[in-house]
Amino acid sequence: MTGPVLAVDQGTSGTKALVICPERGVIGSATAPVHPHHGAGGLVETDTAELLGSVLDAGRRAVAEAGEAVAAVGLANQGETVLAWDPATGRPLTPAVVWQDRRAESLCGELSAYAAQLKELTGLPLDPYFAAPKMAWIRRELTREGVVTTSDSWLVHQLTGAFVTDAATAGRTQLLGLHDVRWSPAALEIFGLSGERLPTVVDCAGPVGTTTAFGGEIPLTGLIVDQQAALLAQNALEPGNAKCTYGTGAFLLAQTGDRPSTGSTGLVSCVAWRLGGRTDYCLDGQVYTAASAVRWLTGLGVISGAADLDPVGATVPGTGGVTFVPALAGLAAPWWRSDLRGSVTGLGLDTTAGHLVRALCEGIAAQVVALADAVTCELGTPLTALRVDGGLTRSNLLMQTQADLLQRPVEVSALPDVTALGAGAVARLGLDPDLPTRRATPAWRPSAVYEPRIGPDEAAERLDGFRSAVNLLLERA
Ligand code: G3P
Repeated sequence: MTGPVLAVDQGTSGTKALVICPERGVIGSATAPVHPHHGAGGLVETDTAELLGSVLDAGRRAVAEAGEAVAAVGLANQGETVLAWDPATGRPLTPAVVWQDRRAESLCGELSAYAAQLKELTGLPLDPYFAAPKMAWIRRELTREGVVTTSDSWLVHQLTGAFVTDAATAGRTQLLGLHDVRWSPAALEIFGLSGERLPTVVDCAGPVGTTTAFGGEIPLTGLIVDQQAALLAQNALEPGNAKCTYGTGAFLLAQTGDRPSTGSTGLVSCVAWRLGGRTDYCLDGQVYTAASAVRWLTGLGVISGAADLDPVGATVPGTGGVTFVPALAGLAAPWWRSDLRGSVTGLGLDTTAGHLVRALCEGIAAQVVALADAVTCELGTPLTALRVDGGLTRSNLLMQTQADLLQRPVEVSALPDVTALGAGAVARLGLDPDLPTRRATPAWRPSAVYEPRIGPDEAAERLDGFRSAVNLLLERA
């Protein structure tokens, strides 16, 4: 055995750090918040000092709590968040433009003639969600100086001086060839990024450098994008295994083995991870606003936080005819309409906070059902159950609504912080290449299983109501 590893999950709304010991499990843990700013025109930015500070702060406190040296560090990152920075000094030249930012929408419109070619090359639909449109937008609107990369490359450079990104994160840029897992000259040309200096694409596990940021000189041996980290830690190692993480957004991923699926249903087809030179792929569907929609409702004063979902939702038996499409940052798979915004319909003088809460839960869950249906269609076999994790799985109301609308059991991971556990797994695999993947990931165990409590007819009726509300938005756009 190789000693504890420090696993860092750098997410949209915060950084979680765990010190994980192979024998004793989690022996140190800390979180540090991150506060993205929202602004007109779809602006979502994070202060780079806060981003880096959260990694250092959470990492150091987790190590201090563990009270022992760590053998390696693993880093999971939020994926499609980008910034420009000076490779000589590491100094940021822009804020971090967050994955939810929509300012590259018109640039995507200009490139629409290339959408099919990009999907074919990279597995990703053309949408401002991905890194390349935002990188091209930064070049056009903010600066031509330095390098422009996903946030992981900058963080790794800050920690170790290396200029790398892992294959799974690179797969979220729309610049990586889906089949050869190399930067695609054709995709780079389409985005006007051909002359850019790009980070070296590395395996998710393996040493990329050392850092003294967390005490001593520690090798950084694991890098992976956060949703794929959660897929790995949920033990989704076989084709057809799926998970959904309910964080800032909700993301449903299904493993497809060593060959990419077509993504013909509108799902993203991308790298799950590359380990020991072997690439595994996954299908990925996104609900752009889950916890961020809950935060929005909180900001309006309807509830005082996510912990209110269950007590406030319990004040009424149903949605009272309210339908909430929580497309507060547009709709992703299978619709891909970043220009759409949310709607709440069916309001009456008798509408209460409880109805709004239930309608929001239903809106999130109905989008996840649309993603699960697309996965079923693409894999040709229905999901038998859905493994779930993330902060919002603490809401019984949301999880029961999910099981009801999905008409399948929803199994909540007994282990919190699944994404960080995935970062820990790649760190451990990077330290010990002979370790079988299954032994690096935690054993799967649910803490709760939600069975559907309504019949298929009622589920279909409620899903129809949601689909009609989406169709109305599509017609009006
Ligand atoms: O694609 C963005 C997503 O991976 C961010 O995840 O956990 O920060 O909501 P999270």
